[in-house]
Amino acid sequence: MMTPDGLKKAAALAALAELETLAPGSIVGVGTGSTVNHFIDALAGSGAHIGGAVSSSEASSQRLAAHGIPLVSLDEVDALPIYVDGADEIDHDFNMIKGGGAALTREKILAAAARRFVCICDASKRVTVLGRFPLPVEVIPMARAQVARTLARLTGGDARWRKGVVTDNGNHILDVHGLAIAEPRTLESELNQIAGAVTNGLFARRGADVLLLATEAGVQRHERQSAASSR
Ligand code: 5RP
Repeated sequence: MMTPDGLKKAAALAALAELETLAPGSIVGVGTGSTVNHFIDALAGSGAHIGGAVSSSEASSQRLAAHGIPLVSLDEVDALPIYVDGADEIDHDFNMIKGGGAALTREKILAAAARRFVCICDASKRVTVLGRFPLPVEVIPMARAQVARTLARLTGGDARWRKGVVTDNGNHILDVHGLAIAEPRTLESELNQIAGAVTNGLFARRGADVLLLATEAGVQRHERQSAASSR
């Protein structure tokens, strides 16, 4: 039986195959978290001919730099051919909850810039309905209580401050507990309208294109149908 971390590593290793179709010197978007840490380590040892990486967090930047992988700013590229990241939950339509590592804002920016979003995770992250994992929302600090009240009113959930966490952008995180999200795209759009909320952790309007799901029986590759046409 594989450990949870072993499953994460298996998903991360499988992502290397997704780089094989890239032109030499391509810039890769890199997410954040323990699964992505395995991907960064594997990338460093793979001999893949990438030109560098755009990173979604200071933590991933440090790990990439420690491996000697060149860091590139998003301003320096027109688009990312691929973005590899984990998720806290992913449903069968490739909608996700992300932000457990508090990097959701930069992650959403890189996802938007990417032609292909490859989600790597272990099978425990696959759900039928999103919301058991508390939905992270990054907020401007002075708006925290106000946004928490608005989130509670709009969602019926309980928005709790993730005390002690300051994002790479200097903001705070609220986690909304007690949700069962029937319409992820609609809720994402509604939450985008809240003054003082920087980003919500629903990745539905731009979900994943490919899911590499590590199970005890091996890594399954799922591709969202008509990835390019429906977003
Ligand atoms: C960070 C994220 C991560 O992708 C998510 O939390 C999954 O992390 P892990 O790979 O450690 O389980 O969204 O903000």
